[in-house]
Amino acid sequence: MENGPSSRAQHVFCSGMVLMGITTRILEVGDNPQRHAALEEAAQLLRDGQLVAFPTETVYGLGGDAGRADVIDKIFAAKNRPSDNPLIVHLDHLDRVADYCSEIPQALTALAKAFWPGPLTVVLPATEKVKNTVCRGLETVAVRIPNHPIALELIKRADMGLAAPSANLSGRPSPTRAEHVYQDMQGRIPLILDGGPCQVGIESTVLDLTDQRPAILRPGMVTRSNLESVLGCEILKADKVDALRRSPGTRYRHYSPSAPVYVVTQDVSEEAFLALVHYLAEEGRLGYLGSRKPVLCSHIQVEPQELAQHLYRGLRELDDQECCGIIVESPGKGEVGDSVMDRLKKAASFYFESDAQTHRFIAEGLD
Ligand code: TXA
Ligand code: MG
Repeated sequence: MENGPSSRAQHVFCSGMVLMGITTRILEVGDNPQRHAALEEAAQLLRDGQLVAFPTETVYGLGGDAGRADVIDKIFAAKNRPSDNPLIVHLDHLDRVADYCSEIPQALTALAKAFWPGPLTVVLPATEKVKNTVCRGLETVAVRIPNHPIALELIKRADMGLAAPSANLSGRPSPTRAEHVYQDMQGRIPLILDGGPCQVGIESTVLDLTDQRPAILRPGMVTRSNLESVLGCEILKADKVDALRRSPGTRYRHYSPSAPVYVVTQDVSEEAFLALVHYLAEEGRLGYLGSRKPVLCSHIQVEPQELAQHLYRGLRELDDQECCGIIVESPGKGEVGDSVMDRLKKAASFYFESDAQTHRFIAEGLD
């Protein structure tokens, strides 16, 4: 983790707001003497059918026992999640996959060897017991082994697969720090394990292995060429219709702060960019996330290649400053850039690819 194992004192604080009658605590899990106690407390809550938020290498997850229907209901209620959007089951070992999947394809062994633990989720045929709970009526189940020591230790101690969506309220940017989880989940869950900032920053790649040809349902840090080089076959980048059919989560507007998001590609010139900044700044405080240096607004400096790691934090922080709009510079080109663009397009209200488009937007006063 960015801030590594820490000797920071364990801290606990209580929510001011108790939305569902629950007091939410945050326990810092560093290399401190309290690590064992914090993880044991979290594991006990999970065994008792409660929810615990925990760090993964991608984003924070909101975990609960993947084998209990009542716990799955709690996850959907805490997040306000649309009820048809299935959850990913998080495991600590490849042997556990058979608890949730009825048929394990050969390709999984090679994928697991190359990418697990890591930011890859694989969709497989589901066992009967999870079809109507975790999978929301689908015949398939999504599984992954996260690459984070706290997540792995928690799953091991709790001795169960953890159903875990990202730990944000539905529609909000995914949380990459414990305080983001607290913003969204205070009063809704009893415990958040604080493992510092997440390294990857965007959610795992979702790969469907249930059709004849494997297909990417959600792009991420594990790219199509990474997958193709391991599987030795072409992988479909599911087009929108296909993705909608196979992965209900891709249907919903996601990752959005309250302020409108304006995405500006690197092809937009400095002159057109500054014209846009001046135009939008007339409305009020304007936020900017990127590597250019505008003078007028709340600014978070991020190089395009680092955007994945800082995107959700940036959107949340600028939103907290009550910006009337947030301009985000698009990521660098390439497969990882495309994965970040996938998230940005879902958050964005406007997308500026060229000067002509930008000038037209300003001239016509579109809003
Ligand atoms: O990195 C991640 O994947 C994070 C961390 C916490 O592991 N989790 C995450 O979960 O992003 P969530 O629930 O926010 O997104 C899960 C995505 C959704 O788009 C959902 O529709 C898709 O995975 N999914 C889950 N089960 C599926 C299935 N059986 N078939 C197709 N898509 C599935
Ligand atoms: Mg999510």
